[in-house]
Order: sequence, then C-alpha cells, then structure tokens
Amino acid sequence: MASLTIRKLDEALKKRLRLRAARNGRSVEEELRHILAEAAGRPEAADAPSPPIQPAAIAHPAPAPARTLPNARILLVIGGGIAAYKSLDLIRRLRERGADVRCVLTRAGEEFVTKLAAGALANAVFTDLFDPQSEFDVGHIRLAREADLIVVAPATADLMAKMAGGHADDLATAVLLAADSPILLAPAMNPHMWSRAATRRNVAQLAADGIAFVGPNAGEMAERGEAGVGRMAEPLEIVAAVEAMLAPAERPLARKRVLVTSGPTHEAIDPVRFIGNRSSGRQGHAIAEAAARAGADVVLVSGPVALADPPGVSVVKVESAREMLNAVEAALPADVAIFAAAVADWRVAEAGRQKLKKGEGGPPTFAMVENPDILATVAHRKAKRPKLVIGFAAETTNVIANAKDKLKRKGCDWILANDVSPQAGVFGGDENTIHLVTSGGVESWPTQTKDEVASTLIARIADKLGAGP
Ligand code: CTP
Repeated sequence: MASLTIRKLDEALKKRLRLRAARNGRSVEEELRHILAEAAGRPEAADAPSPPIQPAAIAHPAPAPARTLPNARILLVIGGGIAAYKSLDLIRRLRERGADVRCVLTRAGEEFVTKLAAGALANAVFTDLFDPQSEFDVGHIRLAREADLIVVAPATADLMAKMAGGHADDLATAVLLAADSPILLAPAMNPHMWSRAATRRNVAQLAADGIAFVGPNAGEMAERGEAGVGRMAEPLEIVAAVEAMLAPAERPLARKRVLVTSGPTHEAIDPVRFIGNRSSGRQGHAIAEAAARAGADVVLVSGPVALADPPGVSVVKVESAREMLNAVEAALPADVAIFAAAVADWRVAEAGRQKLKKGEGGPPTFAMVENPDILATVAHRKAKRPKLVIGFAAETTNVIANAKDKLKRKGCDWILANDVSPQAGVFGGDENTIHLVTSGGVESWPTQTKDEVASTLIARIADKLGAGP
C-alpha cells in the first residue's frame, strides 16, 4: 500500500519525504507510514518492526524481551546486499533473547558491513575460508556443526544459486554445505532478480532440500523508483521465524540450570609441579554442550584441559579440588548437577612455597591429605541441593557393584558407571560404555561416542524433570 502511494507522489514531495526519512533514520516506507498514522492521530499505529531510537526511548528504555532463545547457537551468514545493515540489528535482537550468535561475513557482505561492526555485536565473527587463524580456532566443519540453526540474512541471489548447486568455494558456502543443522534464508534482492526463472528454480530446489525461508517482502527497494517483492524480512520477523524453528520441544531443558564438573584437578606439590591424572575432560565438556543445546543455563566448572570452551556455556576454570568445590558451591542453586570431573583424591599436605631442590637427604617424602569429595558434599547438602545429583564411577573391577556402593555412599541420585580397565581401552578414547545405576536398578547403554553419551544423558534428564518431582 505504502509503495503504491509513494509512486503517486510528485518528485518534489518524494525528495522531501526522503530527506525527512533520512533525518529520522527510517526507510521511506516507514516514514510514510508514520506520516499517515500521525495524520490519523494514531502515531503508535506506525510502529515499524525496527523503530529508530528516540530520545524518549533512551530515557525510558524498553524492558528487555523474554529470553526465548536461551543459549541457542545461531550462525548468521551475512551476504552482500544493502539489507546487510539490518543484519546488525538482527544480531542484537537475537542476543537480547539469549542466543549465542556467531557470524560469517561473505566477501561481498564485507562491502556492506565491517567485521568490526559485526564483531562488536556478535559473539564471534569469521570471514575468509583460508584465514588460518579462523581455521585454527574453529574450522568450517566445526562452525557448521556447532550451530542449532544457520540463518542467512541477507540471502542474495548469488548465495542461493551457490547453495542450490552445492558450491563451497568460500567460508559461508563451505559451512552451509557441511551443515547438518536447519537453515533459514532471508532473501533480499531486486524484484527482477527474485522473479527470474533461475532464482525461481534455485528457491524451489532449496525448499525441496528442506531449507526454510522468511520473506522476502514487498516494498520499496534501495534503488530509486524500484518496488516489488525482494525486500529482506525485518529483523523481528526473522527472529520470529528463528523462534518457531527452535521450538521449545527441542529445548527440553529451557529455564533449567545445569552445573557440570569436568576435567582433572591439579594438586600442587610446589609452584612448578603437581599431581594430576589423565582425564581429558571430553565427556564432561560434551555433557555441558548438550545441556546448553537443550536450552539449559549451563555452568561448567573445569579443571585444566586442552579443550575449547563449549559454546553457550559459562565456564569457570579451576586448578585444584578445593578450588573446584568453591566454584561449584558458588554456582548453586542448580536444578541438576553432573559431576564428570576426575577429582584428585589426595593432595600434598603442605605444598612447597618454593621449587623443591634435590638435596642431600635424597628424594622427598610427602604427607598426603584427602581432598573434599565434591559430589558427596553437594549431594548431602540440606539447602540448595540440586533436584538431580549425578556422579560418574570410573571402575576397573566389579563395575556395577562398586557403582551401587558409590551411589549410596555419596548420596547421589544417579551414577554413570563405566569400565576404565586397560582391557576396556576407553580412558582417553572416543567412546564410553555406560551403565546408569539408580536406586531403581541398572540400565546398560550401548557403546557410544562421548557426544552420544552426552545426548542420551541429557534426554534422560529431560525425561526425569518432565516427569515431575
Ligand atoms: N568426585 C568428586 N570429588 C572427589 C572425588 C570424586 O566430586 N574428591 C566425584 C567424581 O566427579 C565422580 C564420582 O565422585 O562423579 C566418583 O569418582 P571416583 O573417582 O570414581 O570415586 P572416588 O570417590 O574417588 O572413589 P574410588 O577412587 O575409591 O573408587
């Protein structure tokens, strides 16, 4: 309607309208809607989806929107089109709702939006496929896999053509081809390009491939005098599409707080030596990541590991068992606590303040003291005990019997027992064979990768919490 009206205005009026729109930071169409609404005495009716910041809005900031996307991991690909400026607003809107937003800027996208601007708003920004630092930090395969949803906005005709043809000659297309997460496209292009047979074919192909679309809308184009279908959907429309795609059913731990311990602890002997163990932290980190993917608010208390922080998780890094206990207690209350760390059972009673030197007396002997049992401490708490306290039992003999005994002794609700004897060959490996031991019995899971164990565990937890107290 607005675009029809604009076409009827004479040139002088159009010029004034454009000037007024530019002054108010609105599109011509939005400005016209405001003028019409003001004339009708209903300025509020002109509410554009992305209203410009007004002084009044600064004085009385709007309440933050509901966290409808807690820890949702969204990868936003920004293609090269004038609508790219709206993608900066989109990042802000997604993050306000709790999402973790990583960005990939295509080379053409960088012509419209700078890496600096996107980086100031997003959690991380990546540009070139052959940027060694980016590849070293994440790699395009991980970038693709570590997203709950990939949004392409603006999705240009060229980017869609490449996707439809399976091209992968830059970071954006390589990520899109490698992705197994859902993909949402917000196309933006000139109406002629949108209506061309080639674009129609590509859109049909992408839809048949299971790719979702939001927009494009009808309206004024950036080009003078051009109107029709091709405007990118407004940021809030894209947000609504994202929310619909990441349905709550797939985020069964939304609004739950999950605490996870992971990795080994290091117990100092002196400033340069410590007692440690071979735990890689992979299982605990995978659990934290799966919980975040399920929508939980996750705190991961991690001992020293050589792993990247899982996306969408608050990580507290500690060294010793005592530090781990303090961090765990500080992170309470939580709905669920999962103790996957391989905590050192003992520490040197008095660690040397200075580096111990070889001396006349021969090798030193150390008096050892027991470390606090973090799992047992939390499980026996009267106040702030999580509803579900879960421990691990890495055993080399009598796996189930020892795990049952540990369940009672430590006062936890579930134990995930696994055989770590050398013949089982799992310690430090990729897989785990888990027996879930509860007061109700034992459930043996098939041998799974650590990621699969994490997903199975999170699904069991969601079942348990969903089933009531
Ligand atoms: N655990 C803990 N704090 C400790 C020791 C263990 O929180 N100081 C937790 C682990 O994270 C794991 C569970 O307790 O979830 C069992 O750990 P494990 O090493 O198997 O048990 P221990 O108590 O050390 O028993 P043992 O070594 O005698 O088998």
